Amino acid sequence: MAEPITILAIESSCDDTSAAVLKNHKVLSNVVATQKIHKEFGGVVPELASRAHQQNIIPVVDFAINEAGVSKKDFDAIAYTKGPGLLGSLLVGGSFAKGFSAGLEIPLIEVSHMQAHILVHQIDGNNAENSKPKFPFLCLTVSGGHTQIVRIDSPLKMEVIGTTLDDAAGEAFDKVAKILGLPYPGGPLVDKYASKGNKLKYLFPKSRVDKLNFSFSGLKTAFLYFIRQEIKENINFIDENLYDICASIQHTIVSTLLDKLQKAAFETGISEIAIAGGVSANSSLRAALQKLGTENNWTIFIPKFEYCTDNAAMIGIVGMYKYKEKKFAPLTSKPEARLSF
Ligand code: KG4
Ligand code: ZN
Repeated sequence: MAEPITILAIESSCDDTSAAVLKNHKVLSNVVATQKIHKEFGGVVPELASRAHQQNIIPVVDFAINEAGVSKKDFDAIAYTKGPGLLGSLLVGGSFAKGFSAGLEIPLIEVSHMQAHILVHQIDGNNAENSKPKFPFLCLTVSGGHTQIVRIDSPLKMEVIGTTLDDAAGEAFDKVAKILGLPYPGGPLVDKYASKGNKLKYLFPKSRVDKLNFSFSGLKTAFLYFIRQEIKENINFIDENLYDICASIQHTIVSTLLDKLQKAAFETGISEIAIAGGVSANSSLRAALQKLGTENNWTIFIPKFEYCTDNAAMIGIVGMYKYKEKKFAPLTSKPEARLSF
């Protein structure tokens, strides 16, 4: 039997500093330090994010190595997020990875954050059933920065077949939450309040965009005007109707996403369907996808919560595939804020 491969993975693209250790497809540790500093500013402040990464990176890596019960000499390679993301944040993880690679004389592996969100589905224990999608499968990747429908033909062969033309779904959740006066990131709070509300109380316009693409900026504007108008008539409108407002706007976002996913499944004839990214933690999206899957005879893959939002285990699994194909990067490797697939 082949020797197991041990990889250290680093993720620092936005406001989570994360390190993970993987042995083949098994996650031995996956440590995430979420930066709280951005809460008071209502969004991620890039300069503060990179400073916090700088403070967190060594303790987080140290913790991940200890928790995994391995030592530095066990590593076969180090994988890091090359992009997309905030450049200052990416540079911290990237510089660390290069130093580690040079110091230990082990290969350096560049990973695309968006491919990584998708390949969590190849991690052992990726979901409650530990079931893995068969290729080709479709993945709706919904995060704070992206909304994509991706066709995955093999672990490293993927194609974006639909994308947002403006705001990402997570951004829509966060902007709506901000209008409601909720702290950043608002997505999880909208989800929480929505569970107690009536999703059909208020109707919001669904954008009509060509092909498999999305648009969420019009919804955000419509929502802002709606709230302004209602507040003119009742200053306590938000407080008195928070649950119904959250449920209704969440319903609009989720059904917009699933309409396009259904169209993609129909057009491609693919029935292995996955979701990934921070917004895949949304309880309404998870439940609605289950239902749609049953109705359409799809096999559904929903990641465990710890693999929805940003984490380094997802970077490690891509690293594992690239290691097997000897896709290594030189020490001149540098992060790219707008890295495409
Ligand atoms: O993937 P992620 O951790 O970071 C990026 O790569 O962007 O996604 C973060 C996004 C944020 O917009 C956050 O509000 C959203 O995911 N999010 C949620 C939920 N949990 C996280 N949105 C809706 N419902 C949730 N439960
Ligand atoms: Zn992400």
